[in-house]
Amino acid sequence: MKTRITEMFGIEHPIIQGGMHYVGFAELAAAVSNAGGLGIITALTQKTPELLAKEIARCKKMTDKPIGVNLTFLPVVEAPDYPGYIDAIIDGGVKAVETAGNNPAKWLPILKENGIKVIHKCTTVRHSLKAESIGCDAVSVDGFECGGHPGEDDIPNMILLPRAAEELKIPFVASGGMSDARSLVASLAMGAEGMNMGTRFIATKDAPVHDNVKQAILNASELDTRLVMRPLRNTERVLNNKGVEKILEKEEKLGAHLKFEDIIKEVSGVYPKVMLDGEMDAGAWSCGMVAGLIHDIPTVKELVDRIMEESELLIKKRLEGLLSAS
Ligand SMILES: Cc1cc2nc3c(=O)[nH]c(=O)nc-3n(C[C@H](O)[C@H](O)[C@H](O)COP(=O)(O)O)c2cc1C
Repeated sequence: MKTRITEMFGIEHPIIQGGMHYVGFAELAAAVSNAGGLGIITALTQKTPELLAKEIARCKKMTDKPIGVNLTFLPVVEAPDYPGYIDAIIDGGVKAVETAGNNPAKWLPILKENGIKVIHKCTTVRHSLKAESIGCDAVSVDGFECGGHPGEDDIPNMILLPRAAEELKIPFVASGGMSDARSLVASLAMGAEGMNMGTRFIATKDAPVHDNVKQAILNASELDTRLVMRPLRNTERVLNNKGVEKILEKEEKLGAHLKFEDIIKEVSGVYPKVMLDGEMDAGAWSCGMVAGLIHDIPTVKELVDRIMEESELLIKKRLEGLLSAS
């Protein structure tokens, strides 16, 4: 399948793996790229730029296909060493960067000077247009159903994607709630030129996370995610657990008076405990509603091959069949 996204990133299939804290290590990124998609290493999971450089080098030993790096701009006072991380990306020969969390304008010149394509993750049409106007090459349009930070507008992909198609000139991928051939074909029908998956890629044999995490996704239904931190305007969709229930109780009790410090125990330093140690009640970790559609733990290659084979069947048999039946 050829779209502006496959052409832009030099990949075989229009499937991207979104950056994921403590999941987007070299193993997963290499597996996705080897399967013909675009695998993405999550920069900030590496505590220093030097460690990111090592992770990129490790990934490049596992694949000779294009890989990307996610750079998340956090709403924190003491910013991580972004210039250092960008140097590691450039020196590592990476040609794709997924930016997220905040306007990447400040970093675009250096990325572009070094021939790097930038895909910015946006949860609104407004932000997508801004990304286009500042010179991003593509957008990842992240609907309300997504795992992680869906923003504050709450527009699901059934509306958000066709709205993005109405407004954008640069190509975009559909993100949030994507899991299979139905997701890809529907996204293409709504104007996207590929899809970005987060939660679905965690429940694969290649994801280097604790088995408890994969099992929790398998056991979860579409009813099992919760939104936390809405009073702080930093909404995150997470899988429900005892830590999340504590956050929600505090949010209900404190209302508009809630401060980050009130929930710090349940949201800070949680990812290594969950992803590496399998402590499933440690606190809030991102997970999409799409958990309800995840029923197995294939390898990344099995998953991507299945999506592409079934997409072809969906388009050629089911959709064309509907037309020829009339
Ligand atoms: C466990 C987890 C961690 C994530 N961490 C990040 C992150 O560090 N930076 C980022 O930009 N997005 C992050 N995301 C969001 C994903 O890149 C992607 O946009 C999202 O998962 C898409 O929704 P889906 O889970 O329904 O596929 C994370 C998602 C999950 C599930």
